[in-house]
Amino acid sequence: AAATRYEAENATISQGAAESNHSGFSGTGFVNADNVTGSYVEFTVNAAEAGSRTVTIRYANGTSVNRPMSVAVNGAAVQTRDFPGTGDWDTWADATLTVPLNAGANTVRLTGTTANGGPNVDYLDL
Ligand code: GCU
Ligand code: CA
Repeated sequence: AAATRYEAENATISQGAAESNHSGFSGTGFVNADNVTGSYVEFTVNAAEAGSRTVTIRYANGTSVNRPMSVAVNGAAVQTRDFPGTGDWDTWADATLTVPLNAGANTVRLTGTTANGGPNVDYLDL
């Protein structure tokens, strides 16, 4: 089935803002998380059935420094994932993550683990 797209600008943002001052994003913008440890974007996604699924995170990191984010599903840590530089803030890349989902609604939280915060996040496709 085609992916369902969850735009980051419609997700829950803690310490950050929806912005649109770079090009190439989907929807009406992207999330610029504050450059602090612990800033996050949390998607609520729906799964038809329980099981392991691969999600795609579209992101931009206009610096040359990795911006790792921890991934938590329904409050449980899954992994910490690297989000390396994409060249500039207008250049978006896909990161794929495998996550354990319940049937129905699930939260997928992406939290910056360094003082740089995470990368800019455009969307999650499931
Ligand atoms: C710049 C850029 C932002 C980005 C920020 C950062 O300010 O315009 O979109 O989020 O750098 O370093 O995180
Ligand atoms: Ca930022």
